[in-house]
Amino acid sequence: MNIRQLLTDKFQAAMLAAGIPEDCGPVVAQARVAPAKKAGFGDYQANGAMAAAKRMGTNPRELASRIVEHLDKGEMIEKAEIAGPGFINIHLSESWLARSLAAAEQSGRLNIAPAAEPQTVVIDYSHPNLAKEMHVGHLRSTIIGDALARLLEFQGHKVIRQNHMGDWGTQFGMLLAHLSDKLENNDAEVALADLEVFYREAKVRFDDEEGFDDRAREYVVKLQGGDPECLKLWQQFIDISISHSEEIYGKLNVTLKRSDVYGESQYNDDLPVLVQELLDRGIAVEDQGAVVVFLEEMADKEGNPSPMIIRKKGGGYLYSTTDLAAIRYRANKLKADRILYVVDARQSLHLQQAFTAARKAGFLPESVALEHCAFGTMMGDDGKPFKTRTGGTVKLSALLDEAVERAEKLVAEKNPDLDADTCAEIARKVGIGAVKYADLSKTRTNDYVFSWDAMLSFEGNTAPYLQYAYTRVRSIFRRAGIQPGELKSEIRLDTAEERALAIRLCQFGEVLDQVAKDTFPHVLCAYLYDLASTYMVFYEACPVLREGVPEEQKQSRLQLCDLVARTIATGLDLLGIEVLEQM
Ligand code: ARG
Repeated sequence: MNIRQLLTDKFQAAMLAAGIPEDCGPVVAQARVAPAKKAGFGDYQANGAMAAAKRMGTNPRELASRIVEHLDKGEMIEKAEIAGPGFINIHLSESWLARSLAAAEQSGRLNIAPAAEPQTVVIDYSHPNLAKEMHVGHLRSTIIGDALARLLEFQGHKVIRQNHMGDWGTQFGMLLAHLSDKLENNDAEVALADLEVFYREAKVRFDDEEGFDDRAREYVVKLQGGDPECLKLWQQFIDISISHSEEIYGKLNVTLKRSDVYGESQYNDDLPVLVQELLDRGIAVEDQGAVVVFLEEMADKEGNPSPMIIRKKGGGYLYSTTDLAAIRYRANKLKADRILYVVDARQSLHLQQAFTAARKAGFLPESVALEHCAFGTMMGDDGKPFKTRTGGTVKLSALLDEAVERAEKLVAEKNPDLDADTCAEIARKVGIGAVKYADLSKTRTNDYVFSWDAMLSFEGNTAPYLQYAYTRVRSIFRRAGIQPGELKSEIRLDTAEERALAIRLCQFGEVLDQVAKDTFPHVLCAYLYDLASTYMVFYEACPVLREGVPEEQKQSRLQLCDLVARTIATGLDLLGIEVLEQM
């Protein structure tokens, strides 16, 4: 259920009936003031009368009252009041809210209907470079991309995960040369156990060792020429690298599977075909030996088109060529309606060029959306890009281990009586949840500061806070000795706190729709945090199990509690974060 959408439809109809042109549609928004405190302002506000009145040359307050006259309030709206110069404050009906909650309590999906028009959505995320060290930027892409994948899937869309791994390119020359030496000495397995170390060793040899660079270059030529021995070596390296990534995905509770890997190498055969086609059609031209697409669509201030090289002077293909091939594949073979790129903001020019060139070449139907879900850089406490104390790249698996270790200490401190297994399990969920939530709760386009203390805090907008809120709600049921399924009586919203909580609960679907549309997961985090806080206020004000609470009221309040727990659990699950029964 999406309250904002339901209200928008109602107001759109009322405006049409009041003789207002269709394109002066209403703008419905949640009231900014917390409804519990200032019920007078209403729960939602409809704007639009003022803009329409200006266009029609009439009085805005009069127009607003005409809209209200034509409004079909149905069971949903208690009253609609005109305020100020022509705002319309909307009060939702209590019985409607209560009935909506009862429906949510009965439904396995919290009354969230699947999307009316399911789409095929391709999500390009995680995509580490197997020839280089995996860095924290890939952590952000992995976490954000996975949350979007889960959420869109929950909404009923067909999500196709594409792990566009960097598994091809000149970098592999030095790695394969190094690997073949290791194989000769029978210590390849040991050497590949730690890919960062392996990469560094190869790089040192490439930089310092006589003749090694020539051998590396030979390997590149052989690899690109399809030499079977060389391909075998390459395949071995790729397999082990993918297993390393899978280990991280496992630790991170990320849904990516091996079958989602569709790396750059998959497009090899298409690259010469694609370049030739663009040359033949005059979309690309030869320029100083290279093949270039000049994009007038992205011209600079002086009017110079933006150049996008798709074949180098020596004949080599580039990252951009592969991306053009990938767009064509995703639109035509995967039949995507929407393609999301969860990629570092610093690649924004590259992606803009690829999108523009692909459209220019007609590689995809107009209707297919290409969206860059950009994210900023992860910073250390010192405000510089996140590095180890010695300035090296932070190994992702070490970072995740540290998260769990730190969580374990905290959990053991808080609850010294836990047995070791339970403590370890809680620590895993809390530690990993904290890392993921810290990332997801920030506006993704901004840089963000990685801080252990902030993310592991039990107060504020953090995973531990929400996980803890969940356990507290669940403990009420343990104390009451009641299963949520046994609750029967009607939901009643007797107090302002219950009403405020009811509205928040009913807004879950609206929030999911917004995140699906705008791809900003922090909106969901902010909602869950707000829901948990609203619940705390309710819990203070409204006794649930206390003696003397009438049975019907107790049952009603327990249902509210259950809805809070389920909404938090579902919301966190969509973010890829687990809940626990105690902590
Ligand atoms: N592997 C690339 C990197 O680490 C990111 C790939 C992003 N996806 C894409 N289709 N270009 O920088």
